[in-house]
Amino acid sequence: MAESQNLSAGSSQQDAWLERIELLTDGFEWESAEGELFSELAANPATPRSAIFAAKNASLQLSLAASLLWSSDLYAQQVDLLKRLASGISPGTILDVGCEQGLLTCLIAELWPDARVTGLDRSPEAIACAGQLAEELGIKNLTLAIGDLFAPTQVALEPAELVFTSRSILGEAIEIDQPDINTDWTTQAAPAAERLASLTSSEGLLVSLERGAASTASLWSESLEAAGFAVLGERCQLITTGDATVGYEQFFVIFARRSGTMVSR
Ligand SMILES: C[S@@+](CC[C@H](N)C(=O)[O-])C[C@H]1O[C@@H](n2cnc3c(N)ncnc32)[C@H](O)[C@@H]1O
Repeated sequence: MAESQNLSAGSSQQDAWLERIELLTDGFEWESAEGELFSELAANPATPRSAIFAAKNASLQLSLAASLLWSSDLYAQQVDLLKRLASGISPGTILDVGCEQGLLTCLIAELWPDARVTGLDRSPEAIACAGQLAEELGIKNLTLAIGDLFAPTQVALEPAELVFTSRSILGEAIEIDQPDINTDWTTQAAPAAERLASLTSSEGLLVSLERGAASTASLWSESLEAAGFAVLGERCQLITTGDATVGYEQFFVIFARRSGTMVSR
């Protein structure tokens, strides 16, 4: 797995996409009632994830401001990754699983203007924000669906030629952060990988970004392979964000092609 060390941190040249997103947060006040409620809920470890996302997506401005505050370094690297991907492949259909307010989904829709893009998220508040963002950016090739990855959704989901998912499976759809609830997250990884396989067309590409180190990436890769994906090892990469002041965070990106055959377990 290739290492990508903090490519964008400290860069004075902010990406144009992130500049456009940042402009939409102009005038947002963290001292507003919604800003304070979200900060309070997010700081409390007992708050369920669904309540955090409901509060974060109380408005588009809050949702974007919070995402940029916490993750602009990671987003800069993801924008770069998606732009490079768009110069190499032209899928007709794209699905973003766990799209939240659509910060990356809308970029995907712009990068592949001829593709039919679908954003799926179980948070109705997040999907409402994603609809507003798409409207503000004039994006027309995006359909949004409220729904859980593991349940029937509002809009029938067709297998897509490119499935993208960012920080929405491990620790979200799979509770790896709560070992007392599930000491062996790999038992949940299998159904998640199988669901992703069913949403990826035959020979389609999965791009899965998650938080974690190389060891977690290996476990997730194994689950994807067991579900019928061929992991494209040479394209996978590790990403480090942050710095010594705020602390480093590790992520990984797995590229996998759906081969159509399930490995028997
Ligand atoms: C950390 S956010 C990531 C948002 C976005 N992908 C990004 O990288 O900016 C995780 C999102 O995944 C959604 N999510 C978590 N589990 C899900 C599930 N089982 N089905 C659908 N959406 C889910 C949450 O509602 C949340 O909006």
